[in-house]
Amino acid sequence: MRIAVLGDVHGNLDALKAAYGAALSARVDRIYHLGDLGGYAPFVNEVADFIKEHGIEGVQGNYDYNVALNSKHCGCKYEDPVQADIAERSFEWTKQHTSDKSKEFMKSLPMVLSFSVNDKKVLLFHGSPHKNNIYWYEDRPEEFFLEMADKSHADVLIYGHTHKPYRRDIKGKVFINAGSVGKPKDGDPRACAAIIEITKNSVNSEFLRVEYDVEKAASEIIKSGLPEDLAERLRQGK
Ligand SMILES: [Fe+2]
Repeated sequence: MRIAVLGDVHGNLDALKAAYGAALSARVDRIYHLGDLGGYAPFVNEVADFIKEHGIEGVQGNYDYNVALNSKHCGCKYEDPVQADIAERSFEWTKQHTSDKSKEFMKSLPMVLSFSVNDKKVLLFHGSPHKNNIYWYEDRPEEFFLEMADKSHADVLIYGHTHKPYRRDIKGKVFINAGSVGKPKDGDPRACAAIIEITKNSVNSEFLRVEYDVEKAASEIIKSGLPEDLAERLRQGK
């Protein structure tokens, strides 16, 4: 079985369209998303509609949950006070501009999706199987990886939230962070889509990096009234 996983779109419709097109070209059987549909870029409702219209199944991110419930805080971690201010303004903007229909959709997303392929249990979630705002970076200790796999009885774990793609293989378990479609933070501004092929004996994966008009997306951020710094970070992939 061959799947595409689209992580953290964050209101970036053109990046989503590009990543979706690349997934179709990769001739996958199914396409999934990993939540965080809005925030940092303006097209939260359009992204939600696109995902619904194209039947892309997926999970709820911390941003979805907190936007849908009109929470005070998005559940994100801030690196410094300036970033905290930008993130707060983005979260307020997104809560105000997300339609009730989109909020209902976000509320309805499950925390976890799972299915089996050739006796391998595949689990999709946003941050961790039990909490959607855990930053699960590549350099966490092996014990953390194995604990997550053991607790959820999963063989292949696929998640996002950090916006930095990676794969680790530990004791027969496969851990794939699918990166971010609409707001990469690994220095590469292109959209990221993970293509994962699960067979009886192997799990093959690759991260497609997909070109789209980043400059147009940056200018739409500025036009929307979101903090201008977000446009520059999009250009730099950070
Ligand atoms: Fe995110």
